[in-house]
Amino acid sequence: MREKKISKELSSPKKIGANTPTANMHLLSRRACNLIGRSHVRIGAHCSIRPSTHSVFSAFSAFSVRQHHVAAIVIGAGPAGIGAVGNLMEHLPKNAGKIAWIDPEFRAGRLWGYSDVPSNTAVRLFLDYARAIKPLREISEAAQGDAVRALEALPQEQTCPLRYAASMLELLSDGLAQQGSVERLQGNASGLNWNSPASHWEVRYSPEHSAARKKLTSPIVVYCTGSSPATVKIDLPESQQPPTIPLVTALMPGALNQWLAQSQKHDFTVGVIGASHSAIIILMNLIQLAQAEYPRLRVRWFARSPELKYAVPQDGWILYDNTGLKGLAAEFARKNLDGHKLETSEAGKVVTRVDCSGGAEAESAAIADGALQCDAMVHAVGFNRNPFPGDGQVWQTFNHSTGTFTDSETGLPMLGVYGAGIAFPEKIVDPAGNVEYGVGFWKFMRFLKRVTPDWVERVYGKDK
Ligand SMILES: Cc1cc2nc3c(=O)[nH]c(=O)nc-3n(C[C@H](O)[C@H](O)[C@H](O)COP(=O)(O)OP(=O)(O)OC[C@H]3O[C@@H](n4cnc5c(N)ncnc54)[C@H](O)[C@@H]3O)c2cc1C
Ligand SMILES: NC(=O)c1ccc[n+]([C@@H]2O[C@H](COP(=O)([O-])OP(=O)(O)OC[C@H]3O[C@@H](n4cnc5c(N)ncnc54)[C@H](OP(=O)(O)O)[C@@H]3O)[C@@H](O)[C@H]2O)c1
Repeated sequence: MREKKISKELSSPKKIGANTPTANMHLLSRRACNLIGRSHVRIGAHCSIRPSTHSVFSAFSAFSVRQHHVAAIVIGAGPAGIGAVGNLMEHLPKNAGKIAWIDPEFRAGRLWGYSDVPSNTAVRLFLDYARAIKPLREISEAAQGDAVRALEALPQEQTCPLRYAASMLELLSDGLAQQGSVERLQGNASGLNWNSPASHWEVRYSPEHSAARKKLTSPIVVYCTGSSPATVKIDLPESQQPPTIPLVTALMPGALNQWLAQSQKHDFTVGVIGASHSAIIILMNLIQLAQAEYPRLRVRWFARSPELKYAVPQDGWILYDNTGLKGLAAEFARKNLDGHKLETSEAGKVVTRVDCSGGAEAESAAIADGALQCDAMVHAVGFNRNPFPGDGQVWQTFNHSTGTFTDSETGLPMLGVYGAGIAFPEKIVDPAGNVEYGVGFWKFMRFLKRVTPDWVERVYGKDK
């Protein structure tokens, strides 16, 4: 078995602990690199090594935690994590062992949080995701009268509420958990440490509702840990900062209605910062609530430009496929918000645009001034990678083409540590030369299908 062979070749007769001095680890890792290169993996630019600095990763303390060795560890169970587990099942050597899969909930990542939000991708692409690889295809084909059938019954080229996609993900996630080769571990992962003598990574895992900590070891760790809403700093003293409506609350009409009802104010002004999908969906929600239930609700919309950006189908490809508005948000924006439309549209009776153009200083001043007129603010300004305990600077070195991370000292890709999903998306250059990052179910799957064979080959070799 390949895995055993690697461990045997790389083991050092001297038993060195996890916190081995860097110099020793360098020697070992170079040797590891050469050995792996010679016997299993391509040498040269593709020869990957462990990280060279300890500060990058949290060190493991000396007290013992239960240890468990697996073929691969996947962290996160959103659409990217589900895709990563499925792709690893297809490509890991038959006898490599289990895939350990860690997530605090196993409830489709963040998707249920947006269940009433209309998708901005066609129904067909959710089904394409489920059918793209054998393990997921088998689960979706075996299930009857379920989430997959519900998606199949919808018009395939149209969008749908995201609850359909979330239900499908849960079905796939539960199906993967029933495979003998997958071990689902409910809890949080933290820390990553290279154990040079054993030639594997160590990841800590804290089971949900338990103070116990466990240690998982594996030559492959895949991060699909997702992202959380970003905020901007509003340049006002604490006492003048308006309260923030959380992005997930504002995206869901029912939750937003509840939030406004609790305020018990008749004249209420909400500030919305941003001009992409989240912001437009939130403006739609606020306008509908103003028209239906809160006639004195007003919105100040902080946007960098009056013109909005749309995804535009071309001959065989889509211009601004990842950054342009699509679906219902695009339809609504074109009709009601874009450019001069706001001056005459029904939406314009509720929404006033605040000009945030002119660079960072002008933007900050416009937001601070405008926020003084608002009773609450929503920050719809994008998403930041979820922090991972002990990550240091390493995530900054993500290679958006190969899914690898780079050792800061050697400039080589680290062996066996990979990323995918909204936190670690693929870089896409369209035929017009625009650079974008691929965020969406189908885009995660397409990326994982391309890179997983290489990820596995780097560690386990070609002839599995
Ligand atoms: C409002 C909104 C609407 C969207 N609509 C669409 C759409 O219509 N179509 C489409 O294709 N895409 C859509 N997307 C884009 C994308 O599909 C989603 O953002 C998706 O949730 C990203 O998947 P992910 O797996 O990368 O991350 P997430 O869904 O965020 O999942 C990450 C998982 O990792 C877990 N995790 C994090 N840290 C740890 C840790 N330390 N240990 C263990 N587990 C951890 C989290 O708990 C979570 O379960 C939308 C995004 C947003 C924000
Ligand atoms: N299903 C749906 O309809 C739906 C809904 C929401 C989100 N999503 C998906 O989720 C992902 C994230 O979307 P998102 O809309 O949350 O984020 P996003 O695409 O990153 O857009 C962030 C927006 O905020 C603006 N912005 C950033 N900082 C600002 C500031 N200081 N002042 C004013 N504007 C500022 C950006 O302007 P610039 O463009 O000028 O940088 C951009 O318009 C995307 O993949 C999207 O497709 C989908």
